[in-house]
Amino acid sequence: MSLQIKSFEEYQEIYKKSVEDPEGFWAGVADHFFWKKKWQNVLSWDFEKADIKWFEGGKLNITENCLDRHIYSLGDKPAIIWEPNDPEEAHRVLTYKQLLNKVEQFANVLKNNDIKKGDRVCIYLPMVPELAIAMLACARIGAIHTVVFGGFSARSIADRINDTDSKLVITADGGFRGTKTIELKNIVDDALEQTSSVEKVIVLTRTRTPVSMIKGRDVWWEDEVRKVETMGSPACPAEEMDAEDMLFVLYTSGSTGKPKGVVHTTGGYMVYTGYTFSNVFQYQPDEIYFCTADIGWITGHSYIVYGPLSQGATSLMFEGIPTYPDAGRFWDVVEKHKVNILYTAPTAIRSLMAFGDEYLEDKDLSSINKLGSVGEPINEEAWNWFNEKIGKSEAPIVDTWWQTENGGILISPLAGITPTKPSYAMLPLPGVQPALMDENGNELEGNDVSGNLCIKFPWPGMLRTTYGDHQRCIDTYFSAYPGKYFSEDGCLRDKEGHYRITGRVDDVLNVSGHRIGTAELEDAINMHADVVESAIVGYPHKIKGQGIYAYIIADNVERNEDELKQNILATVTRLIGPIAKPDIVQFVEDLPKTRSGKIMRRILRKIAENELDNLGDITTLLNPDVVENVIEGAKKYREKV
Ligand code: WTA
Repeated sequence: MSLQIKSFEEYQEIYKKSVEDPEGFWAGVADHFFWKKKWQNVLSWDFEKADIKWFEGGKLNITENCLDRHIYSLGDKPAIIWEPNDPEEAHRVLTYKQLLNKVEQFANVLKNNDIKKGDRVCIYLPMVPELAIAMLACARIGAIHTVVFGGFSARSIADRINDTDSKLVITADGGFRGTKTIELKNIVDDALEQTSSVEKVIVLTRTRTPVSMIKGRDVWWEDEVRKVETMGSPACPAEEMDAEDMLFVLYTSGSTGKPKGVVHTTGGYMVYTGYTFSNVFQYQPDEIYFCTADIGWITGHSYIVYGPLSQGATSLMFEGIPTYPDAGRFWDVVEKHKVNILYTAPTAIRSLMAFGDEYLEDKDLSSINKLGSVGEPINEEAWNWFNEKIGKSEAPIVDTWWQTENGGILISPLAGITPTKPSYAMLPLPGVQPALMDENGNELEGNDVSGNLCIKFPWPGMLRTTYGDHQRCIDTYFSAYPGKYFSEDGCLRDKEGHYRITGRVDDVLNVSGHRIGTAELEDAINMHADVVESAIVGYPHKIKGQGIYAYIIADNVERNEDELKQNILATVTRLIGPIAKPDIVQFVEDLPKTRSGKIMRRILRKIAENELDNLGDITTLLNPDVVENVIEGAKKYREKV
């Protein structure tokens, strides 16, 4: 069979086969990759124990699949095109040959710095090609990377280093984002005050921000590369990995406690990201593909680095932000590099839409032939604008639903093959078996139903565990509906059997496509000396999808409310990062609670949404009187909502 589905009939046929004979189907897909030794067993699984193994006994290295195997036929094809933050700076192109060379070189740097198979390496880099090189170099030698998004604080980096016991940090002096320079190395220095496992820090030169290099610990990327160059052969043989060896850990927020380290393994992740990339985007050999995500998130891991490279694609990587130097930047990048496939997020679409169509004038977008959306529900208005203004009503839009835990896309149209409908993710990909569940734990059969979205059969890209705490993985994903993976998303299946994701059903907010755990954020706010208690809820936000609304009980509010608010926001920035800062802070005297003392978030959510007719029964509250006070107080903030 060929890897890429070509028609809707073929999709239906393959989907059917993938459900009737999942092992046969996935073995056929895996045959399209390079294995040093073939697997003995396609799949073994037990969801109750969160014990999932794909391609057991198979030996491979993912970088051989992403690089070496393309060298003969695609060696001079651009693997990565890099567009810098500043449009005046030259862009860079790395062909497959050059990328392999750089990956091998840096893999040797890692070895020289005492990194071995199984060691954990924390990466905190800006969106430069060296980020992809660092990840692939880790994979080359079997080290496990954990990439931390540049918008996270020192404390968040420290938590991730401590949780994974990382030995090495790879960072840069700084990073450019629009008009700002982020002092990455200084942030890492602060993080390392709170950790003890890190032996070395490799620092890439990017912004020439002054940094303090600590003797014996900190080394420059460029010096280390020079060292291995003088040592002779640049080659670095790819370490032979088991299909189920860990490839990376990526942290994501859940409804309780600290972020979880989602673990992905080598074989299944490679097969799944490669297969879904090829099929969802219907990638053709000469196309330029541009995913605007940050590699610090799962979308960047799977669909800037591993998926496209395993398919020999040209992946465009952009360092900057959509609004710098102005809100036409994406379109400049598309025009300059003749981008064919653009994969972005609803929040970016909505924000560019709000800037007005004048930023589209004179931009040549004729190269675009496919569009994609990811990270949050896309509203109809944004979908239509994307379709008409960017795709000129000719480029199919794939609204791709998936999660960090999934490794790759689960529900999505195949571009140009599956029919599309605004705000619908449409149909499951081959091998994906969704189930909608009611509140009693029964599966809802048939069409025209809505419920909690579960997946009832394993797929190769799914998470295997949460780092260092397997029980947490079982409890979070496999306990609510025994025998099924629970996504914590709500979903409907319409009369035609098409899927539409309606959003999280747990206490996780999706703010500009970033997952923010309300409990984690409340914990951070509660650390402030004046804060007594807090409650976080989401509310609809025109650009961000959801905004963060914080209700806070605090001392000394009357002294200087604005200053206190700023101090609380600074606390959030310090403990989590600027991405988690509430949009609205309302100081309250008290919070509505149940008789057992639980905060009634449902009521707070309604007040934040200004849905006051719909508060439900409040007479059973411990303190029904506070509701009126909170509503009264909220009026002050109303114009902002
Ligand atoms: C949401 C991002 C609607 C969903 C790849 C999910 C979506 C969470 C879509 C995962 C979509 C992602 N339509 N909602 N197409 N894609 N989501 O882990 O709520 O950062 O649970 O992974 O984003 O976010 P994560």
